[in-house]
Amino acid sequence: MTNALTFFRSLIADPRRVAAIAPSSPALANAITAEITPVSAPVVELGPGTGVFTRALLARGVPEEKLALVEYGPDFARMLQSRYPRAHVLRMDAVNLKSVKLFGGELVGAVVSGLPLLSLPVKEVIAILDGAFAHLRADGAFYQFTYGPRCPVRRSILERLGLKAVRIGGALANMPPASVYRIRRRPQFRIPRPGMSIHFHSSNSDAL
Ligand SMILES: C[S@@+](CC[C@H](N)C(=O)[O-])C[C@H]1O[C@@H](n2cnc3c(N)ncnc32)[C@H](O)[C@@H]1O
Repeated sequence: MTNALTFFRSLIADPRRVAAIAPSSPALANAITAEITPVSAPVVELGPGTGVFTRALLARGVPEEKLALVEYGPDFARMLQSRYPRAHVLRMDAVNLKSVKLFGGELVGAVVSGLPLLSLPVKEVIAILDGAFAHLRADGAFYQFTYGPRCPVRRSILERLGLKAVRIGGALANMPPASVYRIRRRPQFRIPRPGMSIHFHSSNSDAL
Protein backbone atom coordinates (compact mmCIF):
# COMPACT_ATOMS: atom_id res chain seq x y z
CA MET A 1 0.00 0.00 0.00
CA THR A 2 1.24 3.53 -0.76
CA ASN A 3 1.87 6.15 1.95
CA ALA A 4 -1.11 8.23 0.80
CA LEU A 5 -3.50 5.27 0.83
CA THR A 6 -2.32 4.03 4.23
CA PHE A 7 -2.63 7.55 5.63
CA PHE A 8 -6.12 8.02 4.19
CA ARG A 9 -7.38 4.64 5.45
CA SER A 10 -5.98 5.31 8.91
CA LEU A 11 -7.51 8.80 8.97
CA ILE A 12 -10.95 7.40 8.13
CA ALA A 13 -10.58 4.62 10.72
CA ASP A 14 -9.38 6.88 13.57
CA PRO A 15 -9.62 10.61 12.77
CA ARG A 16 -8.97 11.79 16.36
CA ARG A 17 -5.64 9.98 16.56
CA VAL A 18 -4.39 10.71 13.06
CA ALA A 19 -5.55 14.35 13.26
CA ALA A 20 -3.91 15.52 10.02
CA ILE A 21 -4.98 15.48 6.39
CA ALA A 22 -1.61 14.31 5.04
CA PRO A 23 1.79 13.13 6.23
CA SER A 24 4.21 15.87 7.30
CA SER A 25 6.49 17.44 4.71
CA PRO A 26 10.23 16.72 4.38
CA ALA A 27 10.74 20.36 5.54
CA LEU A 28 9.03 19.60 8.87
CA ALA A 29 10.93 16.30 9.17
CA ASN A 30 14.13 18.26 8.67
CA ALA A 31 13.14 20.83 11.33
CA ILE A 32 12.04 18.33 13.99
CA THR A 33 15.23 16.25 13.60
CA ALA A 34 17.59 19.24 13.28
CA GLU A 35 19.33 18.58 16.62
CA ILE A 36 19.55 14.79 16.24
CA THR A 37 22.98 13.23 15.70
CA PRO A 38 24.27 9.65 16.01
CA VAL A 39 25.07 10.54 19.66
CA SER A 40 21.31 10.92 20.30
CA ALA A 41 20.84 7.15 19.79
CA PRO A 42 18.86 5.30 20.91
CA VAL A 43 15.87 7.38 19.86
CA VAL A 44 12.13 6.87 20.40
CA GLU A 45 9.64 8.11 17.84
CA LEU A 46 6.00 8.53 18.89
CA GLY A 47 3.27 8.40 16.23
CA PRO A 48 5.53 7.83 13.18
CA GLY A 49 2.57 7.24 10.82
CA THR A 50 4.03 6.54 7.37
CA GLY A 51 7.56 7.24 8.61
CA VAL A 52 8.40 10.75 7.35
CA PHE A 53 10.34 11.56 10.54
CA THR A 54 11.73 8.00 10.69
CA ARG A 55 13.47 8.52 7.35
CA ALA A 56 14.91 11.83 8.57
CA LEU A 57 16.18 10.19 11.78
CA LEU A 58 17.96 7.51 9.75
CA ALA A 59 19.42 10.20 7.47
CA ARG A 60 20.76 11.95 10.61
CA GLY A 61 22.75 8.80 11.35
CA VAL A 62 20.60 7.06 13.97
CA PRO A 63 21.05 3.31 13.33
CA GLU A 64 17.78 1.52 12.48
CA GLU A 65 18.21 -0.94 15.36
CA LYS A 66 18.50 2.03 17.75
CA LEU A 67 15.03 3.29 16.83
CA ALA A 68 11.85 2.45 18.77
CA LEU A 69 8.73 3.33 16.77
CA VAL A 70 5.62 3.62 18.96
CA GLU A 71 2.52 3.62 16.77
CA TYR A 72 -1.14 2.96 17.63
CA GLY A 73 -2.52 2.53 14.10
CA PRO A 74 -2.34 -1.11 12.94
CA ASP A 75 -1.85 -0.28 9.24
CA PHE A 76 0.92 2.22 10.06
CA ALA A 77 2.61 -0.27 12.42
CA ARG A 78 2.57 -3.03 9.77
CA MET A 79 3.98 -0.68 7.13
CA LEU A 80 6.77 0.51 9.46
CA GLN A 81 7.74 -3.02 10.47
CA SER A 82 8.04 -4.12 6.84
CA ARG A 83 10.04 -1.03 5.84
CA TYR A 84 12.27 -0.94 8.91
CA PRO A 85 12.68 -4.57 9.95
CA ARG A 86 15.57 -3.82 12.35
CA ALA A 87 13.70 -1.05 14.19
CA HIS A 88 11.66 -1.87 17.31
CA VAL A 89 8.06 -1.27 16.24
CA LEU A 90 5.70 -1.18 19.21
CA ARG A 91 2.04 -1.23 18.23
CA MET A 92 0.67 0.41 21.36
CA ASP A 93 -0.83 3.55 22.89
CA ALA A 94 1.96 5.98 23.78
CA VAL A 95 0.08 6.66 27.03
CA ASN A 96 1.53 3.36 28.30
CA LEU A 97 5.12 4.20 27.42
CA LYS A 98 6.31 4.22 31.01
CA SER A 99 5.49 0.54 31.51
CA VAL A 100 7.56 -0.81 28.58
CA LYS A 101 11.24 -1.69 28.67
CA LEU A 102 13.16 -0.26 25.71
CA PHE A 103 16.66 -1.12 24.49
CA GLY A 104 17.26 -3.44 27.46
CA GLY A 105 16.89 -0.50 29.86
CA GLU A 106 19.36 1.82 28.06
CA LEU A 107 18.18 5.44 28.31
CA VAL A 108 17.51 7.35 25.09
CA GLY A 109 18.89 10.67 23.90
CA ALA A 110 15.76 11.94 22.17
CA VAL A 111 12.05 11.37 21.76
CA VAL A 112 10.59 12.71 18.51
CA SER A 113 6.82 13.06 18.61
CA GLY A 114 4.32 13.27 15.78
CA LEU A 115 1.45 12.79 18.23
CA PRO A 116 -1.52 15.16 17.93
CA LEU A 117 -1.13 16.46 21.50
CA LEU A 118 -3.69 19.23 20.97
CA SER A 119 -6.44 16.69 20.45
CA LEU A 120 -5.54 14.49 23.44
CA PRO A 121 -7.03 14.82 26.95
CA VAL A 122 -4.74 16.47 29.51
CA LYS A 123 -4.37 13.23 31.49
CA GLU A 124 -3.02 11.48 28.39
CA VAL A 125 -0.60 14.29 27.60
CA ILE A 126 0.77 14.07 31.15
CA ALA A 127 1.11 10.27 30.93
CA ILE A 128 2.91 10.51 27.57
CA LEU A 129 5.40 13.12 28.80
CA ASP A 130 5.94 11.34 32.10
CA GLY A 131 6.56 8.08 30.21
CA ALA A 132 8.88 9.71 27.67
CA PHE A 133 11.00 11.38 30.36
CA ALA A 134 11.23 8.08 32.26
CA HIS A 135 13.15 6.77 29.21
CA LEU A 136 15.20 9.90 28.51
CA ARG A 137 18.72 10.58 29.72
CA ALA A 138 19.09 13.48 32.16
CA ASP A 139 20.06 15.80 29.27
CA GLY A 140 17.75 14.17 26.71
CA ALA A 141 15.10 16.10 24.80
CA PHE A 142 11.53 15.62 23.62
CA TYR A 143 10.76 17.17 20.22
CA GLN A 144 7.18 18.04 19.29
CA PHE A 145 5.59 19.85 16.39
CA THR A 146 2.36 21.80 16.41
CA TYR A 147 0.16 23.68 13.96
CA GLY A 148 -0.86 26.01 16.78
CA PRO A 149 0.60 29.40 17.76
CA ARG A 150 2.24 28.17 20.99
CA CYS A 151 3.68 25.06 22.61
CA PRO A 152 0.98 22.36 22.60
CA VAL A 153 1.85 21.42 26.20
CA ARG A 154 0.40 24.06 28.49
CA ARG A 155 2.65 25.84 30.96
CA SER A 156 0.96 24.34 34.06
CA ILE A 157 1.79 20.81 32.85
CA LEU A 158 5.37 21.74 32.03
CA GLU A 159 5.83 23.25 35.50
CA ARG A 160 4.25 20.27 37.21
CA LEU A 161 6.65 17.92 35.45
CA GLY A 162 9.70 20.17 35.92
CA LEU A 163 10.02 20.79 32.17
CA LYS A 164 10.79 23.75 29.94
CA ALA A 165 9.79 24.21 26.28
CA VAL A 166 11.63 26.27 23.68
CA ARG A 167 10.58 26.86 20.08
CA ILE A 168 13.55 25.74 17.98
CA GLY A 169 12.21 26.13 14.45
CA GLY A 170 9.42 25.45 12.07
CA ALA A 171 8.38 24.69 8.54
CA LEU A 172 6.41 27.30 6.64
CA ALA A 173 6.39 25.00 3.64
CA ASN A 174 4.40 22.41 5.60
CA MET A 175 0.64 22.16 5.05
CA PRO A 176 -0.42 23.68 7.41
CA PRO A 177 2.71 25.57 8.58
CA ALA A 178 4.12 24.07 11.77
CA SER A 179 6.43 24.98 14.66
CA VAL A 180 8.85 22.67 16.46
CA TYR A 181 9.42 22.74 20.23
CA ARG A 182 12.20 21.17 22.28
CA ILE A 183 11.10 20.14 25.78
CA ARG A 184 13.76 19.42 28.38
CA ARG A 185 13.97 18.94 32.13
CA ARG A 186 14.64 22.18 34.00
CA PRO A 187 18.25 22.13 35.27
CA GLN A 188 17.28 21.35 38.89
CA PHE A 189 15.32 18.30 37.65
CA ARG A 190 18.18 16.84 35.59
CA ILE A 191 19.84 14.87 38.38
CA PRO A 192 18.34 11.40 38.13
CA ARG A 193 16.94 10.25 41.45
CA PRO A 194 16.57 6.44 41.52
CA GLY A 195 13.04 5.29 42.21
CA MET A 196 11.60 8.78 41.81
CA SER A 197 8.20 8.75 40.20
CA ILE A 198 5.56 11.40 39.76
CA HIS A 199 1.97 10.79 40.87
CA PHE A 200 -0.98 12.66 39.47
CA HIS A 201 -4.37 12.99 41.10
CA SER A 202 -5.98 14.94 38.28
CA SER A 203 -9.52 14.20 37.26
CA ASN A 204 -9.09 16.89 34.66
CA SER A 205 -9.72 15.55 31.16
CA ASP A 206 -10.25 18.68 29.12
CA ALA A 207 -8.49 18.98 25.79
CA LEU A 208 -5.35 21.12 25.59
C1 LIG B 1 -0.53 13.71 12.89
S1 LIG B 1 -0.16 11.99 12.54
C2 LIG B 1 1.62 12.19 12.33
C3 LIG B 1 2.25 11.10 11.53
C4 LIG B 1 3.71 11.36 11.13
N1 LIG B 1 4.56 11.53 12.29
C5 LIG B 1 3.79 12.61 10.26
O1 LIG B 1 4.21 13.66 10.79
O2 LIG B 1 3.43 12.53 9.08
C6 LIG B 1 -0.29 11.29 14.19
C7 LIG B 1 0.25 9.88 14.35
O3 LIG B 1 0.22 9.53 15.73
C8 LIG B 1 -0.40 8.25 15.89
N2 LIG B 1 -0.99 8.26 17.25
C9 LIG B 1 -1.98 9.09 17.70
N3 LIG B 1 -2.24 8.87 18.99
C10 LIG B 1 -1.37 7.88 19.38
C11 LIG B 1 -1.12 7.25 20.62
N4 LIG B 1 -1.83 7.55 21.72
N5 LIG B 1 -0.15 6.30 20.68
C12 LIG B 1 0.57 5.98 19.57
N6 LIG B 1 0.37 6.55 18.37
C13 LIG B 1 -0.59 7.49 18.27
C14 LIG B 1 -1.39 8.18 14.75
O4 LIG B 1 -1.78 6.84 14.46
C15 LIG B 1 -0.58 8.83 13.64
O5 LIG B 1 0.31 7.91 13.05
